[in-house]
Amino acid sequence: MFITFDGVDCAGKTTQSAMLYNHLVLQNIPAYLTKEPGGSYAGAKIRQILVSEELDETEKLFLFLADRANHVRTVIRPSLEAGRVVICDRYHDSTVAYQFPLLDGLNQSTKDDLRNIATRGLEPDLTFIIDLPAEEVLRRMKTRKDNNILDKDDIEYYRGVRNVLNKIWENQDENRVIVKIDGMMGIEYIHQAIVKWFNHYRKV
Ligand code: TMP
Repeated sequence: MFITFDGVDCAGKTTQSAMLYNHLVLQNIPAYLTKEPGGSYAGAKIRQILVSEELDETEKLFLFLADRANHVRTVIRPSLEAGRVVICDRYHDSTVAYQFPLLDGLNQSTKDDLRNIATRGLEPDLTFIIDLPAEEVLRRMKTRKDNNILDKDDIEYYRGVRNVLNKIWENQDENRVIVKIDGMMGIEYIHQAIVKWFNHYRKV
């Protein structure tokens, strides 16, 4: 089973994906926790470029896609084939929310092609989108120590990302299960909700 977490920065995805992973381990369910960008050996090098160089959106897009294609081939698919539940902190929904809106001239069929090439056709079985108002993103970012070049001090930017993620949730079709979680709730409360949804949709 392939589970992804997405959301604006500082929404709590990393915390929640680690909590779900720990829960599965305690339940003796084989699991693997990974992230994008940087979840594979080559991807860690790509991440290093992404967080240290001033790149434009086109350049970033192709690095995120290259990271994903490598991640799916070398990490995610092999882990799924070994029978693990794979939990991934960010996946293609991030590209749709962060890169696609900033690039002019990408029509829907190009976006679909890029998605299929990078994911190699692998779609999540379950996605959690943790929602957070843009004001709260900036507030949390100010108290976070490990910000990098990809983090912006721009409320409109995070409003845009949040809107796209909400649209992805609203427009989900029968091929995807996407659960939206209110990131303003307490960490333990969110975790319990996620465990309930996992048990509901469990495919192991
Ligand atoms: P994170 O490790 O804190 O989640 O940071 C990853 C950053 O990369 C975050 O700002 C979102 C961004 N990102 C994209 O812009 N596009 C993508 O496809 C992915 C996976 C991440």
